[in-house]
Amino acid sequence: MAIERTLSIIKPDATRRNLTGRINAKFEEAGLRIVAQKRLQLSVAQAEAFYAVHKDRPFYRDLVTFMVSGPVVVQALEGENAVARNREIMGATNPANAAPGTIRKEFAESIEANSVHGSDSAENAAIEVAFFFSGIEIVG
Ligand code: TYD
Repeated sequence: MAIERTLSIIKPDATRRNLTGRINAKFEEAGLRIVAQKRLQLSVAQAEAFYAVHKDRPFYRDLVTFMVSGPVVVQALEGENAVARNREIMGATNPANAAPGTIRKEFAESIEANSVHGSDSAENAAIEVAFFFSGIEIVG
């Protein structure tokens, strides 16, 4: 099994409700290690750049507005198959479709305010981790 790193974001709906610790417990109980973490207030330009892949989607402007509506906690998670493992722990994008026990099933408010982001491929994980962290900030 490959040891990977993936980029996770605890979104503003979750920081607002003081859920950072409960979400982190889900990652740690599932065997993922938080090897970097910081709390940030994203600017509009930063949120636009992070979600640039979605810039032509109808939900893009609302998504950017939501992501700057409060603090986020950005993290690098490490573990066996961390990208796919984290996607399992997160659950489906729409909490109505998320499996029991997943973060989005337990905590998400809506398809937009869905509590967490996780990279969707190893390639994107490398890009997204580098978007927020320099090498010296990641301690495995
Ligand atoms: P996406 O990459 O499809 O989902 P995921 O976060 O599960 O990888 O979409 C990115 C984010 O965009 C998603 O977490 C919430 C938001 N979004 C909406 O607000 N409405 C939508 O219809 C979709 C598909 C996504």
